[in-house]
Amino acid sequence: MKVSYHGHSVVKVETDNHNIIIDPFINGNESCDLNASTLKVDVILLTHAHNDHVGDTFEIAKNNDAFIVAPNELANYLSAQGLNAHPMHIGGSKQFDFGTVKLTQAFHGSSYEAEDGSIIYGGMPAGILLTINGKTIYHVGDTALFTDLKMYGEMNDIDIAFIPIGDNFTMGPEDAIHAANWINASISVPVHYNTFPVIEQDAKAWANQIKTGKGYAMNIGEAIDL
Ligand code: NI
Ligand code: MN
Repeated sequence: MKVSYHGHSVVKVETDNHNIIIDPFINGNESCDLNASTLKVDVILLTHAHNDHVGDTFEIAKNNDAFIVAPNELANYLSAQGLNAHPMHIGGSKQFDFGTVKLTQAFHGSSYEAEDGSIIYGGMPAGILLTINGKTIYHVGDTALFTDLKMYGEMNDIDIAFIPIGDNFTMGPEDAIHAANWINASISVPVHYNTFPVIEQDAKAWANQIKTGKGYAMNIGEAIDL
């Protein structure tokens, strides 16, 4: 399968039978190389309800009749809006036809600002462990550093981890180095940086400091074969 990075926290996973996108924030994400109106995906996975993660979910889901997996409150909101969303919650895992999803803890917020300006409660934010054909991708979501990342690293053989380094809203580079070393993935990829001035970071310098596995700052649109 191919795992590609598209700026901010946008990750795409292409398998023989499925195209999966995680946190599809495309419009408003100037670093993103994707086009929301032409994107072909059949599965959308969401870590939390913030608009820089739900992103273009409505347009993409409607265009593709896509299946969405999200934390319970967010999924229920999306379902009420007419989308096909499956609710899960932290600690729960489920096998789907495209792979197995397990939601992990994240220390963050989760509300969605709808088009009319109303604020929707999104439940707890999460990270996503996605296992497909024996390969595990850990999208850490937006979070502070927390020690149970070590537990997730010990309990799972993680091939690639997407770790926020932007600071201000999530852990910053120094905390994210601890996170990467605890998660112990074969490849640790920095995300959630440089999208806005307040989260500007040197991703290559960060990647060079990873001691376990390999730290690697993926270019926008770059894909890794797993
Ligand atoms: Ni967020
Ligand atoms: Mn965010």
